[in-house]
Amino acid sequence: MNDVYIIGAGETKFGELWDRSLRELAVEAGLKAVEDAGVYTKDIDILYGSNTLGAGISYQNDIGSLISDFSGIAADHIPALRVEASTASGAAAIREAYLSIRSGEYNVAMIGGVEKLTDIYGSEILDKTSTLLDSEWEAFFGATPAAVAALTARKYMKDFNVSKEVLARISVNDHENASKNPDAQFRNRISVETALNSLPVAEPLNIMDCSPIGDGAAALLLASEEFVKKNKIDGVRIISSSIAQDYLALHSRESIYRLDSTVIAARKALEKAGIRNDQIGMVELHNSYSIYGLIALEDLGFAEKGKAKDLVEADIKLDGRIPVNPSGGLKAKGNPFGATGVGQAVEAYLQFKNRAGERQIKGLEYAMLHNMGGSGSTSIVHILGGD
Ligand code: COA
Repeated sequence: MNDVYIIGAGETKFGELWDRSLRELAVEAGLKAVEDAGVYTKDIDILYGSNTLGAGISYQNDIGSLISDFSGIAADHIPALRVEASTASGAAAIREAYLSIRSGEYNVAMIGGVEKLTDIYGSEILDKTSTLLDSEWEAFFGATPAAVAALTARKYMKDFNVSKEVLARISVNDHENASKNPDAQFRNRISVETALNSLPVAEPLNIMDCSPIGDGAAALLLASEEFVKKNKIDGVRIISSSIAQDYLALHSRESIYRLDSTVIAARKALEKAGIRNDQIGMVELHNSYSIYGLIALEDLGFAEKGKAKDLVEADIKLDGRIPVNPSGGLKAKGNPFGATGVGQAVEAYLQFKNRAGERQIKGLEYAMLHNMGGSGSTSIVHILGGD
């Protein structure tokens, strides 16, 4: 099977981008990726658009065709599909593109992840984000993503004697890294005290435990080994890709604070890559709420259950044992759903290319990317390496 490389990456700034439309954002990121790769758009064999709530918020379906049309490549009549897997849509699109090249069917694939979450009034956004839960059994009874995360946090904190301060440190780390990322939604540093004293959202979670509502787009170009060699491109290899599901509703899961989809996806991704967890030099993980950042550290294999609290003071920092979210993560770089997972790969690509500026990690060999749907119904893990 063909090896697959990321050969170009681009993204817009993430944030409340009132003056930009869905299509403008997608095209900006896409063209940046094409320019970065130094290829022609006619080289692209297939396009995957990742998006989560476009139909409900922007009244736009068929994001694949939209991107193809407004990027000026519709005349080439290449396939252009939308991939949706809740908030893991971005990584799902990367995986589809990876498989399509790995199988030998295509040589070059484009991925365009885009989301516009701010084109909606007031609390309506809560109705939309709650569609990512089980509508009949959770959202119908008033549960929101924040409420579900808060329930998880309460049980976890009680069972493992974890304080709110530990959760806050996940967010403090994201804001510190985002202060070094010009594309991040929030570039302000915060202290543990600021996080602890911020507005309550769903006890025990405060606003500083939550990823924000925001817009943005991110794009990648993937290519086969054959294409990379022929065009003498220095790409970043996607060493492995793995996906696993869990029950949609939280009450059906075996454990409220173990993300089985993440455990399985991470284990398989490491097995396929043939590396150990302690060889990973950075991880971009899915902390839509601080509690998921903590739990994901455990379920990705970096700490035993209940022990991630030991990592949050020093180990997760840029110069720590396992740098977490050098991009600023979902909390501070932002979480425009369809773009989030693609943006994680953009960050890893920049790190491998030594183009991450002030947040550059030195001597990086392997990166792990973790993108999750909702509260863990889907987890997708990619391992990248710079050979
Ligand atoms: N972190 C830090 N600051 C935030 C923030 C966040 N998560 N969300 C909003 N803010 C800031 C805004 O920038 C704004 O600042 P300003 O007054 O200086 O301009 C201020 O707080 C108020 O913003 P507003 O948009 O009115 O906030 P809100 O109260 O409507 O929304 C949340 C705050 C936390 C409820 C919202 O961001 C949210 O729902 N986040 C979670 C999204 C989610 O569920 N994602 C995962 C889905 S599975």
